[in-house]
Amino acid sequence: MFSARKIFAEIFDNDEAFRLFCSIAASGEAQGGWENGLIAARVPGSQADLAPKIARHGADEDKHGRIFTALLRKRGLEPADVPADTDYTMVLEAAGIGLAHARLRGRQELTERDIITYLVHSRVTEQRASEQMRALRKYARGRPDIARAIRIISDDEDNHLAYCHEELLRLAAAGHARIIRRMLREAALTEIVIYRDVSTAVMAHLGRILGWPNWKAATLAAGIRGVYAYERLGGWRRMTSLRLPARRNALGGPGPRRVYA
Ligand SMILES: [Fe+2]
Ligand SMILES: [Fe+2]
Repeated sequence: MFSARKIFAEIFDNDEAFRLFCSIAASGEAQGGWENGLIAARVPGSQADLAPKIARHGADEDKHGRIFTALLRKRGLEPADVPADTDYTMVLEAAGIGLAHARLRGRQELTERDIITYLVHSRVTEQRASEQMRALRKYARGRPDIARAIRIISDDEDNHLAYCHEELLRLAAAGHARIIRRMLREAALTEIVIYRDVSTAVMAHLGRILGWPNWKAATLAAGIRGVYAYERLGGWRRMTSLRLPARRNALGGPGPRRVYA
């Protein structure tokens, strides 16, 4: 049989699979950085205190994109094209989760509702990012370059998640509790479907590169459907709860301190 650790070992050991894996990750991170940069620039006056935190959030995501690209370059690889069906960020945007890109490119100042939309989208997707990076930390053990990169990103994603909890709780206490609850539920129930479909697509592309036999590809696809079933039956609720985090003001600092090269 095979384990997630063995699957990731295969991906890390194969140049072409590693290239696609890092390219997909880098592109999603850079997309998040771009979105948050635009949001930070147009925060409404009532939420002005949030602007530097959103800018920091965007700068962190940009940094993650550079980290994944640097991992590629260290192996002498160039970024690959990202297949549309593996583009988690763009598929979410197309499904109406988070702020529409047309809105982000416009000139109008964002509203308080837009800020809630951004934070709800982030609450759900940062939960995913935080969990994925924690898993990757385990799979990258024994590979110092990858492990170091993942550790930096993982710590940031935990901070992003803490920040979303804290800011959404503040806005809930300011009278937005009902809309936040409703939007979190919608976002989580949509995200779990998209995560299932994107994961299936990513594994199909990687499986082709790695020459997996049908039984192996089918078993992995079944595993992804199993995760979805768990999430649909209630696991999604972990993405919508709001708790005051142990670490407060996680994005209150000056921004990425280390330049990764
Ligand atoms: Fe990130
Ligand atoms: Fe993040």
